[in-house]
Amino acid sequence: MYQFMPLLLAASAIANPLAKRVSGTSTVNLGNITGSIKHLASGFIYGIPDTPNQIPDHFYTDIGFNYGRAGGAQVAAPGLGWIWGLAEYKVRFASALSNYRTTRKYGGEFIFLIHDLWGADGTQNSSAPYPGDNGDWSSWDDYLTQWISDMNANDALEGLSVDIWNEPDLAYFWNAPQSQYLQMWGRTYHRLRKEWPEVKLTGPAFAGEPDASNSWWTNYLSFVEGNASIPDQWVWHMEGGGSDMETAYGNLYSLLQTYNLPLRPINIDEYATYAEQVPSGAVWWISQLERVDAIGLRGNWLSGTQLHDFMASLLGKPNATTSSYSATEGGYWPNGGYQVYKYYNLNQTGHRVGSSPSADLMLDTYATVGTDMVRVLTGVRIATGTWQITINDLSAVGLPTSGTLNIHTWGFPFTGGYFGEVDAPTDLGWYEHTYEGNSVTFPVYQTDTTTAYAFEFLLG
Ligand SMILES: *[C@@H]1O[C@H](CO)[C@@H](O)[C@H](O)[C@H]1NC(C)=O
Ligand SMILES: *[C@@H]1O[C@H](CO)[C@@H](O)[C@H](O)[C@H]1NC(C)=O
Ligand SMILES: *[C@@H]1O[C@H](CO)[C@@H](O)[C@H](O)[C@H]1NC(C)=O
Ligand SMILES: *[C@@H]1O[C@H](CO)[C@@H](O)[C@H](O)[C@H]1NC(C)=O
Ligand SMILES: *[C@@H]1O[C@H](CO)[C@@H](O)[C@H](O)[C@H]1NC(C)=O
Repeated sequence: MYQFMPLLLAASAIANPLAKRVSGTSTVNLGNITGSIKHLASGFIYGIPDTPNQIPDHFYTDIGFNYGRAGGAQVAAPGLGWIWGLAEYKVRFASALSNYRTTRKYGGEFIFLIHDLWGADGTQNSSAPYPGDNGDWSSWDDYLTQWISDMNANDALEGLSVDIWNEPDLAYFWNAPQSQYLQMWGRTYHRLRKEWPEVKLTGPAFAGEPDASNSWWTNYLSFVEGNASIPDQWVWHMEGGGSDMETAYGNLYSLLQTYNLPLRPINIDEYATYAEQVPSGAVWWISQLERVDAIGLRGNWLSGTQLHDFMASLLGKPNATTSSYSATEGGYWPNGGYQVYKYYNLNQTGHRVGSSPSADLMLDTYATVGTDMVRVLTGVRIATGTWQITINDLSAVGLPTSGTLNIHTWGFPFTGGYFGEVDAPTDLGWYEHTYEGNSVTFPVYQTDTTTAYAFEFLLG
């Protein structure tokens, strides 16, 4: 469990040689207004049941769900996609269309995964075909003709983005030459752009982050520049468990300069490892994405019909973990991670203020200033230890530059794990902190790897 100490106790602990070493400080600057709240991290991939309304509305609206991404992957047979024939394509299309409609019901944007509808969802066999095999594009061209016609017929273009291929840099999704991928990109981009000028075409959705020594990135950027097929959003995934958003963004920025390409919105349309899909990790990712104004969708580490359930590991339901699991059963409850997204959406109102992660990049904070309170959500990247939070420029919210600050703390535990029920954060009470110099610092004792915390105080 996490503990709280008045400043006096914290000061005496510093003199104690047995006291825990502070690993670093995440800093919030209340005077640095970084824009209105956008809930940039409130999307997820798959996670929506194919039966409409199976998960009740409030589960979507309470977390401000705003971005979906699907294409009928891993639906129950017979639904293996285009490469198995039109009937199998139709099953996947129906699944994706249903997920599109659910996303639109809540005003969200939807990224259509046409590689999944084709059938390259990672379950395809080693002799499965890829677009343009042996220089023959006829099946891909026919596929796009069918899909374009079906999307038009179902009036499914509003709020639509297309990730032209998912993670082609992994043989799991693209087991053909890189040059063939680039040809596929160029053909598909120009065809869809001509067909639907308003639909966003996004990519490259690589598993690997921007990196000047990664030939998938360098060849792609060089190709789209010459081919006039620059994506409307720069998309990649952050699921390796290593790097951070400022590093990745910086690498993209310099690559774009090298290849003379424009900066466009960033979309990390799969973020967080499965281990990071816990309250602490969710907050760490929210903080990271918000800092660089990147859209983010939680990755999804479930498979089969569970891929189409549980809102990407934010919900549980009866029999979720037993052999009597049913894809179509209801009875949902929220888990600990869900409570983080709910607080992020419903409670962190007002405007955002700038923050920086601890120097070791392990503790991060996302802070907002509402009409009533300052709210600072904090999470570690799956570690235990002692960090601290410094909040600077208290006078920017009308507080005196020295005095006593009463801070209300909430804990967001991961009780019961991924399928555990957590109906609300835990009220950990109010603690007084004396401060001076227009700045307050308090410790975060992280004795488990998964709990996140929120700290709140009234404006002056
Ligand atoms: C492999 O998948 C393709 C469709 O992608 C199918 O036509 C073929 O029969 C499959 N081969 C085997 C050995 O299952
Ligand atoms: C882009 O690349 C595709 C695939 O090679 C090609 O068909 C198309 O003509 C190219 N377009 C331009 C504008 O270079
Ligand atoms: C859970 O599974 C058991 C059988 O193992 C079944 O009796 C029960 O009805 C299931 N509960 C729900 C809510 O589906
Ligand atoms: C968040 O806001 C909701 C709606 O105003 C409120 O009911 C709830 O108590 C708040 N939760 C916390 C943890 O402050
Ligand atoms: C304000 O915060 C943003 C986001 O954290 C940061 O990039 C920027 O450098 C900060 N500006 C100042 C003046 O501190």
